[in-house]
Amino acid sequence: MARYLSTNDTTESALQREYMEKAVACVAQLEDSLGRKPQCCVTTFGCQMNARDSEKLLGILTQIGYLPVENEEDADFVIYNTCTVRDNANQRVYGRLGALHSLKKRKPHLKIALCGCMMQEESVIDKIKTSYRFVDLIFGTHNIFKFAQLLVTMFENQEMIIDIWHETDQIVEDLPVRRKYPYKSGVNIMYGCNNFCSYCIVPYVRGRERSRDPKEIVREIENMVRDGVVEVMLLGQNVNSYGKNLDVPVTFAQLLREVEQIDGLRRIRFMTSHPKDLSDELIDVMKHSDKICRHLHLPLQSGSDRILKAMNRRYTKAQYLALADRIRSAMPDIALTTDIIAGFPGETPADVDETIDVVRRVRFDNAFTFIYSRRTGTPAAQMSGQVPETVVHEGFDRILKVVQDTARERALLWQGQVMEALVEEVNEQDASLMTGRLSNNMLVHFPAKQSMAGRIVPVSLDTCHGFYYTGHITTQKDG
Ligand code: 5AD
Ligand code: SF4
Repeated sequence: MARYLSTNDTTESALQREYMEKAVACVAQLEDSLGRKPQCCVTTFGCQMNARDSEKLLGILTQIGYLPVENEEDADFVIYNTCTVRDNANQRVYGRLGALHSLKKRKPHLKIALCGCMMQEESVIDKIKTSYRFVDLIFGTHNIFKFAQLLVTMFENQEMIIDIWHETDQIVEDLPVRRKYPYKSGVNIMYGCNNFCSYCIVPYVRGRERSRDPKEIVREIENMVRDGVVEVMLLGQNVNSYGKNLDVPVTFAQLLREVEQIDGLRRIRFMTSHPKDLSDELIDVMKHSDKICRHLHLPLQSGSDRILKAMNRRYTKAQYLALADRIRSAMPDIALTTDIIAGFPGETPADVDETIDVVRRVRFDNAFTFIYSRRTGTPAAQMSGQVPETVVHEGFDRILKVVQDTARERALLWQGQVMEALVEEVNEQDASLMTGRLSNNMLVHFPAKQSMAGRIVPVSLDTCHGFYYTGHITTQKDG
C-alpha cells in the first residue's frame, strides 16, 4: 500500500540540484567540443500533464546549459515525452524514432531520450531494446524528477540507460521549470488515478492518486503570479477527487477557494473532472467566482448505461444528464466539453444512438471523439465483442456529425457579444492578428500588437467561423 506523502520531498530536490551542477560540467565539455552552445528539443505527445512535465524537462536542460530549439534536426539532444492512452500515440513515436535514427547516423554525438507514459509498459521497453538500440536514455513517469541525475549517468556511460519505476510515493517539486507561455501555466495538483475505467491504461502508467499539499500548490501559484502568470490550469487525472487522501482531507472546491484568493491571478482553469465525483459544492464555487473560467470538461465516454457499466464509469446516462442540467442551470453561459469513445467492446448501433442522444440533449460546446483502442493489460482488452473496424467507423462518423452540428450551434450563440479574452499568441496564418482565449475556452482572432500578449482585453465577437471567432478589441463592456 502506497503512503500518501503530502509534502514536497526537499531532500530529493537538493540532491537533484547537486546533479544539475555535475551536468553543467558535462554540457560545458560538449560545448567545447562543438564550438557552440549545445541545443535541445523536447517533443511532447499526449495530455496537459505531459506538457507540464516537458516544461520541467526543459527547465533542467536550459539550466544546465542547453539552448532550446523547435526543430529536431538542429538539436544535439532530443527527448520524446510519450503518451500511450491510444495505440496511435505509440505508433507515432515509433515512426519518428525511425527518422531520428537517420539523424543520429549523420550526427553521431546526438543524444536521444524517451520518457513518459509509454515507457511504463514492459512490451515497449523490450521493443526499444531490440529494435531501437540507438536510444541513449529511457525513464518513466514516476522518476522524472531524477532527470538531472539520469543525464549525468547518460553522459558518463556509452550504453543505453534504462530506469523505470513501477510506483512512487514521492512528490518532488521546486526544480527548475521553463514555461512555454510567460503568462499562463499548468499546475499539478495531484498525480495518478484510482478510477480504473476498464479501457484506460492511465492508472497502470501513472500509478495511484497522490495529492499535493494545498499550501504548496498556493505557494507555487503565488510565485508564478509574481513571475507574470495570470492564468493557471490546475492539473490532475481526476481533479474532483483531489485531497481525499491527504492527512487532513481537503475538497477540490476548497482548494479552488484558496487559489481564488491569490492577488494578481486573473483566471483559473482545471482538467479533468470525472462526472461521478463532481460535487454541488464545486458548482457553487464556480458559480460565485469571477476567476474560475466558464468551462468544464466532463468526459462522457458513452451514453449507454450498459456500456458505461462495462467501462466501470460508475454513473448512468440519467445521472450524467442531471449533472449537466445542474451545471447549466447554475451557469447558463458555461461551455461543456467532453470525450467520447466509439467502438468499446460490445457496443451496438443502439448504444451509439444513446450517446448521440446525450450529445443532442447536453449540446456540448466541443467533444473529442476517439476510436476505442485496445490497451494490453486493461480489463476491456479481454472483453468479448470487440467491434469490427467498419462498424466502429460508422458509429464514430455518426457521433462526429452530431457533435459538430451542436458545437456550431453553441458557438453561434455568442455572435456580437463582447467577452474578455486572454491575448495568447500571434495568429499562425496572419501575423497582423493575435489569438485570444475566452473564458469559455473558445479562440478569437483579432488585430492587435504582439506586445499585447498576456493581457486580458474585451473583444467583440464579430464573425463566427464554426468553432472560433474573428473580432476586434473594444472598450465597450458587454451590456
Ligand atoms: N481508447 C480510446 N480512447 C481512450 N481514452 C482513454 N483510453 C482510451 C482507449 N483505450 C480517451 C478517453 C479519455 C481521453 C483522455 O482519452 O475518452 O477521456
Ligand atoms: Fe497520455 Fe494519459 Fe499519459 Fe496523459 S496521462 S500522456 S493522456 S497516457
